[in-house]
Amino acid sequence: MTYRTIIEPFRIKTVEPIKMTTRAQRERLLEAAGYNPFLLPARDVIIDLLTDSGTGAMSAEQWAALMRGDESYAGAQSYYRFADTVREIFGFTHVLPAHQGRAAERILFSTVCKPGDVVPNNTHFDTTRANIEATGAEALDIPIPQALEPSTVHPFKGDMDVAALEALIERVGTERVPLVMLTITNNSGGGQPVSMENVKRVSAVCRAHGLPLYIDACRFAENCWFIREREAGHAEHSVAQIARELFSYADGATMSAKKDGLANIGGFLATNDDALAKQEERLLILTEGFPTYGGLAGRDLEAIAVGLREVLDHDYLRYRIVSTAYLGRHFTEIGVPIVQPPGGHAIYVDAAALLPHIPRSQFPGQALLAELYVAGGIRAVEIGSVMFGKTDEQTGEERFAPMELVRLAIPRRVYTQSHIDYVIEVMADVYARRDSIHGLNIVWQSQPLRHFTARFEPARARTHAAVRR
Ligand code: F0G
Repeated sequence: MTYRTIIEPFRIKTVEPIKMTTRAQRERLLEAAGYNPFLLPARDVIIDLLTDSGTGAMSAEQWAALMRGDESYAGAQSYYRFADTVREIFGFTHVLPAHQGRAAERILFSTVCKPGDVVPNNTHFDTTRANIEATGAEALDIPIPQALEPSTVHPFKGDMDVAALEALIERVGTERVPLVMLTITNNSGGGQPVSMENVKRVSAVCRAHGLPLYIDACRFAENCWFIREREAGHAEHSVAQIARELFSYADGATMSAKKDGLANIGGFLATNDDALAKQEERLLILTEGFPTYGGLAGRDLEAIAVGLREVLDHDYLRYRIVSTAYLGRHFTEIGVPIVQPPGGHAIYVDAAALLPHIPRSQFPGQALLAELYVAGGIRAVEIGSVMFGKTDEQTGEERFAPMELVRLAIPRRVYTQSHIDYVIEVMADVYARRDSIHGLNIVWQSQPLRHFTARFEPARARTHAAVRR
């Protein structure tokens, strides 16, 4: 007999208490944080779905591995264990540790980009975009058209539009495209996977034009699990085999080990290009550290080496993907519009569809964040016009993002089903009261990456104040 219930495939050995707060307390706390959940102290959050990055629980084996950490400045054993694991799973020759994903991105892009270049991706994550733009190059998103239709169900909504890639190369020429990137899974596009077929086709275009293909590998194991589940010809392959094949079509990768590395910090940059690796190493030494530790402690490298193997476990991945889908299914049953189908690490609520009465200039996504926090102490993140929009410095006009999403990201191995059931109950309550939720105005911001620090006030409050005056 195979039972239907998929349990958390772990027992809990250490617990962290959650401080409970009241609605009245949360109203005060959120106001003090300028209606920006990034500015809330974490102790005042009941369920923290801000990110799945660095927030996972380490396993007993990872904690044990910390004790093996070799803290030698050069040539530490921990580096070899880390680099050998990365080589074995990903197949790249050169492995440069970095303190997190964005450090790897900065080193890569500041080495290969020049002003006027264009770097295409299915969809750039915000740090990737910012690091490319910091070099004077353009970060271009070319997802398949379905990626921009939240309710459209497609098994591989993370795919890149290959025709758009060819057209871009045709238009700007290969000299202006230093590399092509694929983000697996496509975080900013809804946590959606990229198919093996798409990786192959993108790789074929890149190889035909002599362009390197890089993978943003943050959530590679989740992406490979989706390939195993959804793409013909892979059901019999292990996730490790699928990963090995997928990366064989690429020339390098950046990775934040804070996601599918199951670690709290760390990342790496990998490449097969000997000359480039030398240049990158010089920058690494300048800003991160000697190439055998790259800004990390030996024990961090150990935790990543163990985490990268654990994340390939099928029982873990089945539980992970099923539990994310569980949240998505219940939201859908309530009537909450989400990006379909549910992605690997998060559920993305379509705030523009949920709150059609809030104009985009009053940030429906940010308004939903505020409501989720006040109602249930849940912290999520806006992936919409606060994150990707911009205020024109001359005219003061807002440029909006293509979608107004709210992401509820699920930390790995942290919350149980009852925590998720609580999130569903809070969302049902918010949904029932959706017509009374009001928008927010930005009262302070600083570019780039304004979403981290911007402060807001309720749009209603301003009207009332204006009336009182
Ligand atoms: N690429 C992707 C696809 C990411 O999701 C992230 C981080 C990064 C790169 C940068 O990695 O944080 O280690 O520097 N995403 C986190 C998130 C922050 O919440 O989605 P980092």
